[in-house]
Amino acid sequence: MLYIGIDLGTSACKLLLADEAGKILNTVTHAYPLSFPQPGWSEQRPEDWWDAVVTGVPELLQGFDASQVAGIGAGGQMHGLVALDAQDNVIRPAILWNDGRTDEEVDYLNNTIGREKLSALTANIAFAGFTAPKILWMQKHEPENFAKIDKIMLPKDYINYKLTGVHSCDYSDASGMLLLDVANKCWSKEMLQICAVREEQMPELFESYEVTGTLTVSAAAQLGLPEAVKVVAGAGDNAAAAVGTGVVGAGGCNISLGTSGTIFISAGRFGVDPNNALHAFAHADGGYHLMGCMLSAASCNKWLCEDILKTADYSAEQAGITDDKLGRNHVFFLPYLMGERSPINDTNARATFTGMTMDTAREDLVQAVLEGVAFAIRDSFEVAKSLGVQIPRSFLCGGGSKSPLWRKIFANVLGIPLDTVKTEQGPGYGGVILAMVGCGRFDSVQAACRALVEVASTTEPDAVLTERYEARYHQFRQIYPAMRALFPALR
Ligand code: XUL
Repeated sequence: MLYIGIDLGTSACKLLLADEAGKILNTVTHAYPLSFPQPGWSEQRPEDWWDAVVTGVPELLQGFDASQVAGIGAGGQMHGLVALDAQDNVIRPAILWNDGRTDEEVDYLNNTIGREKLSALTANIAFAGFTAPKILWMQKHEPENFAKIDKIMLPKDYINYKLTGVHSCDYSDASGMLLLDVANKCWSKEMLQICAVREEQMPELFESYEVTGTLTVSAAAQLGLPEAVKVVAGAGDNAAAAVGTGVVGAGGCNISLGTSGTIFISAGRFGVDPNNALHAFAHADGGYHLMGCMLSAASCNKWLCEDILKTADYSAEQAGITDDKLGRNHVFFLPYLMGERSPINDTNARATFTGMTMDTAREDLVQAVLEGVAFAIRDSFEVAKSLGVQIPRSFLCGGGSKSPLWRKIFANVLGIPLDTVKTEQGPGYGGVILAMVGCGRFDSVQAACRALVEVASTTEPDAVLTERYEARYHQFRQIYPAMRALFPALR
């Protein structure tokens, strides 16, 4: 049998076709636009996501026997608000995870409703990118759109709806809405009430590996697939990526270097960060996880190379950054191009280069960007350690992990070995694994990961570099607090 994995990302939708042994047979990627209608806002058209799937799946299947496809699983960008009317039409463009327009709503939720109450109801507090503050924003700023809402969906759930006709959501992605009682895995009636949402407006909840339905007649015809193909609930992209690197069960860690940067710590049991600096979410394996999320990670390097230096040759930009330069850069970069979520929770924060002199070279800036992202992940890593979480090693995945230099910087900034996996296909591979479990190929997500995921490489930290980076990290940590008060006025 064959399985399709969907990675519904922020810049593109990547589709994977895998066989029963988990071998990738084909991949197809379709990009779509991202719009920033105002500074700090970030939107996409859900119709563009579906178009990417409808165009991509027939291309993916070219040369393969479509009748052999058994299941589909998706991992998608989290937190985005997709609002559907009574006819299941999209009411307005989706407001995405990296959108920072909801300052007032976040302030209302965290300070008027109160952090303690939010944490007791949902295990989390409000962050600008989460779904609940966006619902409140829509209620205040677009009352005519708000009145039309019949269903509230997350991005990959919209795709799953188009595939099956079922309004579903899985626990990992639902955790990031601030509407789920994460500990008890059900919608929080009180949070729904606070956000003026009725339970009928919410999708039905499933474990990520559970089958929600089969293809509708129309989806099967559009995609060139049999109607019997099963669709599983899927997962938020970070939970799906963690499944793809085998970070399931208790005590694993996965760092993802994509548009966002995340540190994902898997746990068998439910647990909350008492300060709510890390998110406490459900995992796609039926368990839980803690996660820190920075809003701009590999996107900082993409921005510098493509938008500023006007090159797509990232390797050439990194070629001059030799070992003797590591941990000795006098330039620092704060990677807050979209404000920041974890752990500083500051939509006003902005990116900066600091410490340039007349001899600063182009490659020092490139190095500062790679290091700044690693330092910012270390901020969340330190929060996890302060909670007593042991992180002796981690997986590293996502586009940024393909750079050997960036892997070396990360291993030395964090002071731990970093593994990569052989089938590095991000959240889409997690989607394939979840589909296999849903179709009965494996009994559990853990069993599937044991059978399918293999380590490809390990980057060990080096004692000298780790010591140099320790000193640099402590300098980095002083920059944001020194600048914080300036940022609101710069907006
Ligand atoms: C996680 C988060 C991001 C998006 C990116 O909380 O907001 O990682 O899921 O796709």
